[in-house]
Amino acid sequence: MRVLADDGPAGPPARRGSIPAVTDGTTGRATPGRPTDGGPTDGEPTPGGLTAGELTDGDRVDGECAGSGLPGGRPAEGEVPGPTEWGGSVGVGPWPGPWPTDPRYDPELLAEGDRRNVVDRYRYWRLEAVVADLDRRRHPFHVAIENFEHDLNIGTVVRTANAFLAAEVHVVGRRRWNRRGAMVTDRYQHLRHHPEVTGLLDFAAAEELTVVAVDNGPGAVPLETASLPRSCVLLFGQEGPGLTPAARQGAALTVSISQFGSTRSLNAGVAAGIAMHAWVREHANLNAAPGSI
Ligand SMILES: C[S@@+](CC[C@H](N)C(=O)[O-])C[C@H]1O[C@@H](n2cnc3c(N)ncnc32)[C@H](O)[C@@H]1O
Repeated sequence: MRVLADDGPAGPPARRGSIPAVTDGTTGRATPGRPTDGGPTDGEPTPGGLTAGELTDGDRVDGECAGSGLPGGRPAEGEVPGPTEWGGSVGVGPWPGPWPTDPRYDPELLAEGDRRNVVDRYRYWRLEAVVADLDRRRHPFHVAIENFEHDLNIGTVVRTANAFLAAEVHVVGRRRWNRRGAMVTDRYQHLRHHPEVTGLLDFAAAEELTVVAVDNGPGAVPLETASLPRSCVLLFGQEGPGLTPAARQGAALTVSISQFGSTRSLNAGVAAGIAMHAWVREHANLNAAPGSI
């Protein structure tokens, strides 16, 4: 295996129309796909499965934070470069000087600049190279969300799963989901669709993953005091009905996030973020978080 150095040029980034990663529907692994500018916001799945990657009209590739850096996105002298959304830059301009020869670099990005919403480690990298690097480091937790009523939180869940480097995101129920909240992070995330809860449970059993239902309600253990299995699927319900009975019954454990106010529940996307971070706090190697340094 190639040893990949953290030596990608730090600094400014994105280009529209880069090659998305597409799951093959069987392995869920990313393969080079096709450019996708102009796709529908409510992403149609590509043949063969739920995709990692339809760039949709209206999705921004570049960072959302206003940059305080120099033209071209480079941080001004004295600015501390950091992850795209924390730092003062929204990308990098064209590569100055002789181009690097490492095949991970994308000639189009080197020529035009890279303003994608990626951490500096991946500036100017081809999308496939980024996915391959993430695949080397993915955490052994999976995330699943039920989508029988077209839950609008899934984009948020996908983005958070990307940030915390989940192995895969599983969508249970309807295949279609609104990608807007994913902010293009679905390109870098393995996604798998299961029409029914049984499909997810079968997958988890085959992969020796403990299914952890995350929901409020009787019988749930407080997440704040629970220990999460290292290899697991964190399973979330949808707005309104919450988890289906089939999902609750299929889980080995149910955890709930303690609440103190008047509302019955949290937004599912927020709950997913809290639960994923609980896994990170318990199991992740914090020294391996390039996006946080
Ligand atoms: C809006 S909630 C469902 C609410 C539920 N039907 C109710 O009214 O009690 C949608 C999903 O978010 C997650 N969720 C929300 N609040 C939670 C909490 N306090 N603990 C654990 N999960 C929560 C669960 O996965 C839940 O199925």
